[in-house]
Amino acid sequence: MYDNADLAALIQLNPLVRGFMPWNAGTLKPSAMSFILQQVVLFNLRSAVECGSGISTVFLASSLRSIGGRLICIEHDPAWIERTRSLLASERLSEHVELVHAPLEQMRVGDSEVMWYARASIERLLDSPIDLLLVDGPPAQDPRHRTDRYPAAGFFRPALHTDSLVVLDDVSRSGEAEIVKRWEAEQGLRLRTFEALRLAAGRLGRVGLLY
Ligand SMILES: C[S@@+](CC[C@H](N)C(=O)[O-])C[C@H]1O[C@@H](n2cnc3c(N)ncnc32)[C@H](O)[C@@H]1O
Repeated sequence: MYDNADLAALIQLNPLVRGFMPWNAGTLKPSAMSFILQQVVLFNLRSAVECGSGISTVFLASSLRSIGGRLICIEHDPAWIERTRSLLASERLSEHVELVHAPLEQMRVGDSEVMWYARASIERLLDSPIDLLLVDGPPAQDPRHRTDRYPAAGFFRPALHTDSLVVLDDVSRSGEAEIVKRWEAEQGLRLRTFEALRLAAGRLGRVGLLY
């Protein structure tokens, strides 16, 4: 599952965490994580929103701390909130992250029926500009939930600006690949798919990623 770029990224990233929240198929690939952290620092993406907490929350928080930024992480599962909260605390990163519990609810977006984060729990996040939107939740590996991540770009669109970076994980799956096409057509996002990283990333109107 991991290639050489992942192994290099693991060596670079692993000293930061002490091993009790392991990398697995549910996490971003290490090389993808490393790519996102590079974008944060190079483009000074100080205000980040992440959908789907986990080990990525810790790495993002650490990078954001280094540039004086802040992370808001949306999570539907209270058990994962607690797990992430305790890992952040043990890494002394708590003050750089707000963990927001948003239960999943069924909703219709366009012609799609999906389970996504309850809007009432996250509406206030639209009040501030978002420099980085990382979409790695809700879980969508079950074919019945293959397009559950679709609402993210439309919902957060009012808080995005031309230099905001939007990242979608798991684009090797058909559901996320479809979401990439729909976000491009409907939201004006120009996304580039990085197959080796298993993610797509881009901005409104321009690509301009350093890699
Ligand atoms: C794709 S995972 C998010 C993973 C996270 N962004 C990361 O890279 O560490 C989607 C959801 O599964 C749960 N989850 C988080 N980390 C997980 C892991 N390592 N294995 C399985 N499920 C995980 C959480 O409820 C999360 O919202």
